[in-house]
Amino acid sequence: MSKFLDEVNRGLSGKVKKLNPKWLYDFSGSKLFEEITKLQEYYVTRTEIRILKQNKSEIANLIGKKATVIEPGAGESIKISIFLKSLKDPKCYVPSDISKKYIKKIGKKLKKKLPNLSVHPVVDDFTSPKKINSKILKNKNIVIFFPGSTIGNFEKKDAIQFLRNLKLKYNPKKIIIGVDLIKKKSVLLKAYNDKKGITAKFNINLLNRINKELNANFDIKLFKHSAIYNKSKNRIEMHLISLKNQKVKVQNKTFNFKKGETIHTESSHKYSPKSFSQLVNKSGWKVKKIWTDLNRQFSIQYLI
Ligand code: AVJ
Repeated sequence: MSKFLDEVNRGLSGKVKKLNPKWLYDFSGSKLFEEITKLQEYYVTRTEIRILKQNKSEIANLIGKKATVIEPGAGESIKISIFLKSLKDPKCYVPSDISKKYIKKIGKKLKKKLPNLSVHPVVDDFTSPKKINSKILKNKNIVIFFPGSTIGNFEKKDAIQFLRNLKLKYNPKKIIIGVDLIKKKSVLLKAYNDKKGITAKFNINLLNRINKELNANFDIKLFKHSAIYNKSKNRIEMHLISLKNQKVKVQNKTFNFKKGETIHTESSHKYSPKSFSQLVNKSGWKVKKIWTDLNRQFSIQYLI
């Protein structure tokens, strides 16, 4: 049985229906997410890029010479190019992702932008604790670059485990990580309920994907996107709400939905500098430096 089918079966069988947000990113999902990053309401991406540009020399000084930069779940190339171009004599770039095809493409793109850089793509699931099999682990100045507030997708305990695992997996000395900050609820709600409805499409796309890849019969007109702020957990939650009592088939299994019942498809945790540094301490790392924008919407943090 495929991992996807297995997880969908399990995720829809529980008392509370939920799916891992990583499944949102098939080809269409990745395209839609790219559109999200350009939305006026979605402050995340442009704010992080601004912080990175404004502080790149200081960041580069802290990283030092001949860095090996590992990017777990490497994605679009804007941020990593800014980062690599600012470094002094970087030794190599290691994009890492589960899709071999994707990672090779990222590698080639970067090689065009930085022809002198050596690129070593590694096929790996960054959520597993397994050490990567690569000679780059012998390098000295290994740095993890993990932007985008992807860390926010993890439950707190999983975020701690993830940061802890990075040491076992990649033998790094330093981490540069993007972390979204707690802010006014209205700003957050707008960012995940954009006027053009791109976030809604992104969320609904998961049902299209399940229909296509797992031979299911979700009627996408009968589910609605919802993004709410869970105040006690400081997180945005995306859900898909069933608009009526209905049955859905995924291959040979049938799942019942009550009217108003939801599938929880993603959590996006927001932190204060203090709450994030407490989390980091539990993982065996320390926050050494934090950069933010003027409105304190987003942060880039340096961990050692
Ligand atoms: C890619 C996980 C950082 O949580 O803001 C954007 C994904 N979901 N809009 C985020 C997302 C809905 C995004 N991350």
